[in-house]
Amino acid sequence: MSKLRIAVQKSGRLNEDSMRILKDIGISIDNGKDQLKASAKNFPVEVFYLRNGDIPQYLKDGVVDAAIIGENVLIEKGKDINIVEKLGFSTCRVCIAVPKDANYSNIKDLEGKRIATSYPNTVNMFLDKNNVKANLHIINGSVEIAPNIGLADAIVDIVSSGSTLFKNNLKEVETILKSEAVLAVSPVLNAEKQAILDKIQFRIQSVLKGRASKYVLLNAPNDKVQDIIDVLPGMKSPSVLPLAKSGWSSIHSVMNKNEFWDVIDALKEKGAEGILVCPIEKMVL
Ligand code: PRP
Repeated sequence: MSKLRIAVQKSGRLNEDSMRILKDIGISIDNGKDQLKASAKNFPVEVFYLRNGDIPQYLKDGVVDAAIIGENVLIEKGKDINIVEKLGFSTCRVCIAVPKDANYSNIKDLEGKRIATSYPNTVNMFLDKNNVKANLHIINGSVEIAPNIGLADAIVDIVSSGSTLFKNNLKEVETILKSEAVLAVSPVLNAEKQAILDKIQFRIQSVLKGRASKYVLLNAPNDKVQDIIDVLPGMKSPSVLPLAKSGWSSIHSVMNKNEFWDVIDALKEKGAEGILVCPIEKMVL
């Protein structure tokens, strides 16, 4: 039986979360960080630990079948590669930054200027769209020091917390694109591997839905139950169970993690007591 070959970043910002999502979907792998590849014990999958920038070409050539990779890397190097799932972690943006004291009002200010970057295709697409011509200096790593050593007037790099820009006295002036980790697939995938991929995608979706939700349990007087259900509609409809104490019910439901504190405030206002909020590991609708 063939195995699906999945590439993950060997080291760097995506590695840990990539391994975590594989574990959460039940793909258990011995620590393979120092290896090129490792087989899953309980699923027809092999994990390849590769350099981020090499992954798009491996996908194109079918050397690996799928990858967990930053969308920004695919935009730079993997135009024809299909993204099948956004994974919600390693969010960042590709930005233009200039020295803090530079006068910058709009993109036209970069006309004829020197821009240091590891993302030449992304920068060229953005400059072309804005009809600006600049000189690109392509460097791999430590792009942020280029203005300070007189190599460039601006940089284009990924920004996450913004602390690298801050430490190097740079300010963000344009966002070229936003990115997050994605599941990407080789254009040459046979039917057998597609079937394995479908299973993986289904599992990932269950984990992502679980991560985005919380399970809520609370007690309420029976005359408040309907008001509370209005605030907590749940997946289909909440479970309402009688408490041993007469005139009271227990309500169980699911809510969106992002609305959590607002919903809790509303529940308290409507008379809910003993509110418990629990994480959800997986959710299959
Ligand atoms: C990226 C980027 C910056 C930093 C930005 O490097 O090149 O150096 O992250 O993140 P921040 O806004 O949170 O400070 P990364 O750590 O991915 O490694 P790299 O230098 O190998 O690209």
